[in-house]
Amino acid sequence: MTTTIQSPATNPNQALWEKGDFTRLAATMRVSGEALVHDTGIRAGDKVLDLGCGDGTTALPAARLGASVLGIDIARNLVDAGNRRAAEERLTNCRFQHGDAWHLAGIADNSFDWVVSIFGAMFAPRPVDVAKEMVRVTRPGGRIVMGNWIPGDPTLIAQILKIAAAYSPPPPEGFISPVRWGIEADVRERFAAAGIPNEKVHCVRDTYVFDYAGPPADFLAVFRDYYGPTMNAFAAAEASGRQADLQRELENLFASQNTSKDKGRTVIPATFLRVTVEV
Ligand SMILES: C[S@@+](CC[C@H](N)C(=O)[O-])C[C@H]1O[C@@H](n2cnc3c(N)ncnc32)[C@H](O)[C@@H]1O
Repeated sequence: MTTTIQSPATNPNQALWEKGDFTRLAATMRVSGEALVHDTGIRAGDKVLDLGCGDGTTALPAARLGASVLGIDIARNLVDAGNRRAAEERLTNCRFQHGDAWHLAGIADNSFDWVVSIFGAMFAPRPVDVAKEMVRVTRPGGRIVMGNWIPGDPTLIAQILKIAAAYSPPPPEGFISPVRWGIEADVRERFAAAGIPNEKVHCVRDTYVFDYAGPPADFLAVFRDYYGPTMNAFAAAEASGRQADLQRELENLFASQNTSKDKGRTVIPATFLRVTVEV
């Protein structure tokens, strides 16, 4: 099969993530990213693919443990940011490149001990192809670890995505919602299509904590100005004259989710589905 990655002009997924600057949000997620990596059992010398890696919230901690890490992301600005962060830390065992999770062009079969994708591959189109690609590039005996937001969950990101969708135009025909990766039955079905039996797929609920050095309204502004899905929702709400409603709804959400007693800080725990697949 010859497939080339579409340009941002024709690849809405790439345009969405290059539009904002996810590094602003990633900066609030570092502690949970590092804890998750330590919890996986990744060790020095392991080969790790971080898919939908952003600027390296999980890739860098894996490299600091001594693993050999490749980060792949659809957004070129995030690939550049990841390479800059790795260079600043002199992590020569960590590099980032552009690519699409549903078609890992140039990546050989059985290349990695681990494929990690934390809130990354869930946003790619063609979820069955994504599962097949993750399985293809993992060596037999290796592991896939995914973190996926859960539809309808009452915590922050699931609620932001739900609210954003309510203010956005209906998605194009055939669009498959990313949060279906947060439904256990869908996860099992997708990996079954990739040849992984049910008993090799393990799902648990876990928590990521967002920690922002400012009040909830300022943290919301980061989402409004830099997070692709909320940027699009605000643009659509403005076009339909509902921007103030969206702002109010999200302000209430951020204030109600904040667990910090310090007025100058926002701490928000968010639930996700953690999937581990034995390949
Ligand atoms: C919510 S961010 C998470 C980034 C990172 N994993 C982290 O934990 O900070 C989602 C990431 O998935 C990337 N992404 C979205 N669609 C993708 C695709 N089709 N292939 C590769 N990466 C993709 C985005 O560019 C973005 O970096």
